[in-house]
Amino acid sequence: MHWTPHGCLPIMRPRVIFVDEVVVGLQWGDEGKGKFVDERSDVCTAVVRFQGGGNAGHTVWFGGEKHVLHQVPCGALRPDCVAVIAAGCAVDPETLRDEVLGLGLSPDRLLVSSRAQIVTPWFRAVDGAEELLRGPFAVGTTGQGIGPAYVAKAARVGITVGEFVDDLARSARMEVIRPATRRWLGALGLPSPRIDADHLGELAAWLRPLVGDDLAAIRAARKHGRVLFEGQLGLMRDPDRGCYPYTTSASVLPPAALVGSGARVIGVAKPYVTVVGAGQFPTEAPPAEAAVLARAGDEFGATTGRARRVGWVDLPALRYAVAATGATHLALQMKMGGLMELGRMPVCVGYQGWDEGRGFPQTHELGGVRPVMEDWPLPTDAAGVLGLARRIADALDLPLLYVGTGRSRGDCLWTGGGPRP
Ligand code: IMP
Ligand code: MG
Repeated sequence: MHWTPHGCLPIMRPRVIFVDEVVVGLQWGDEGKGKFVDERSDVCTAVVRFQGGGNAGHTVWFGGEKHVLHQVPCGALRPDCVAVIAAGCAVDPETLRDEVLGLGLSPDRLLVSSRAQIVTPWFRAVDGAEELLRGPFAVGTTGQGIGPAYVAKAARVGITVGEFVDDLARSARMEVIRPATRRWLGALGLPSPRIDADHLGELAAWLRPLVGDDLAAIRAARKHGRVLFEGQLGLMRDPDRGCYPYTTSASVLPPAALVGSGARVIGVAKPYVTVVGAGQFPTEAPPAEAAVLARAGDEFGATTGRARRVGWVDLPALRYAVAATGATHLALQMKMGGLMELGRMPVCVGYQGWDEGRGFPQTHELGGVRPVMEDWPLPTDAAGVLGLARRIADALDLPLLYVGTGRSRGDCLWTGGGPRP
């Protein structure tokens, strides 16, 4: 099939109704969404990122090589699947250009929504300065300027991609953004940024051919096949439903536009938990055991290189994430190496004295919860790993769609995900 998201070529396949799918993280991020999307995009015509930006780090392995994606959706690495960066994302044109060139991606296979927001170069400095001001409530952001970009958007002093790539519109908009930026940076004690109009013009010229109408591209993609919406981060980093204020700045929940469309919502998780950045983490493991899991699982931030904090799988947190995201199916990346090395599989099955019917503890309550732990039997073979995955799916009352069995492309089992008997 040859088509691009920038223009609708004739429909090559018989018209069938494909159900959209949304991939969301059910933990604190780094559940293995990148690998899942890479596997799934084999049967999709478009992969759409709908929130976040360069803070994401999605790792996929194929052809014996590691590929890390930040802003580009994972499906871009499949020849029959196009990539869309939709409205709702925050786009840093400079790092996007490096990423696209680094991947050797043909620009006609990527569409950037004219309604997405631009992350300007000075937002990184703001990100760092605001972290210092948060003192004990510092979030441990990725420093990519994501928070400030969404603050500027909400304050109506951001710039959209569509305006940015239109030279006249950009100049007009900068007249407003320049003084607003000076006030903001001045209040933080930062020097006024040098806004280099030529440099912005160069970036705009590079970005311009990629820009288009994301909704039109999604509609076209649906006629060819299935559209996959790729979430970034996990529910616990969602500003509405997560451990606020230790969250990112854009909702990680499925996009509102899909509600009622019958889309499947596929929640991704792994049999332990990793956290990059600050905030309460009820099942955090003791350092020695965490170190074993971190080493075996190569648990280092794909964007920041920071060591991830590691802990045990947390069923109350997962059940809450299923409820909050509306997950309809479960995908488990069964990274078992570290657990096998430790020789045990601790599982948090509840919080002492906490009735899950009350919802999930808020951040200020979460520090005081005491996980109720059980040791589940460790699997001894592949059938055992599948059995463990089914046991986790049962505890969440979700059909199991997929089990990841290794890091490389193809290391997985599709388990159907039909309705449970
Ligand atoms: P921000 O999105 O850079 O503002 O960071 C907000 C929080 O989300 C911080 O705790 C980050 O460590 C975390 N975070 C952001 N992106 C990722 C990711 O791709 N994986 C894991 N954690 C992330
Ligand atoms: Mg990541």
